[in-house]
Amino acid sequence: MKILAFGGSNSSTSINKKLAIYSTKFFKEHTIEILDLNDYEMPLFGVDKLAKNGMPQQAMNFAKKIDESDLLIISLAENNGAYTVAFKNIFDWISLIKDRKEFWGNKPTFLMATSPGARGGASVLNLAKTTLPFFGANVIDTFSLPSFYQNFNDETGITNTEFAIDLKDKIEKIKTEFLK
Ligand SMILES: Cc1cc2nc3c(=O)[nH]c(=O)nc-3n(C[C@H](O)[C@H](O)[C@H](O)COP(=O)(O)O)c2cc1C
Repeated sequence: MKILAFGGSNSSTSINKKLAIYSTKFFKEHTIEILDLNDYEMPLFGVDKLAKNGMPQQAMNFAKKIDESDLLIISLAENNGAYTVAFKNIFDWISLIKDRKEFWGNKPTFLMATSPGARGGASVLNLAKTTLPFFGANVIDTFSLPSFYQNFNDETGITNTEFAIDLKDKIEKIKTEFLK
């Protein structure tokens, strides 16, 4: 099975990309592809730009990656309680690709979020959990890691036992139910 993972951020030091990559280590039997949103940088979405220049190739490429995957792992960065501009820009562009009724492809989607703060991106995670299903994402579970710098280490990953076990349990369940 093919797993597509990315952090919802264009930061070169994205903690969400780190968390997304860390989570893929538990899917050793599967093919993993990690995306970097910087490879899908497009003009700021606008209906005039779409009408004048059409759909950017990067949006088509991103949608193809979704379509080719069996499971999505997305760790969302929270900016002012919502998605980063980098993620939302891709989201808006691909939502208008013609003949893709369900633009998240109805793929099983494991949503995560982390932030340096104690809420662990709770707002953006809740936003995504409650609204992405309307756009064809099959959200199968969520995981939030609060206080990233206290609970994550670049060498060993999640250092807090409780959060580490919670993530592993969720991943084992996903593997059993969705990646047979
Ligand atoms: C413009 C801006 C707004 C932010 N807003 C929030 C916020 O609403 N909630 C939060 O927990 N962190 C917020 N942060 C802090 C981010 O969680 C932090 O920068 C984190 O590292 C972002 O994830 P990333 O490293 O994956 O990009 C904000 C950061 C920026 C630059």
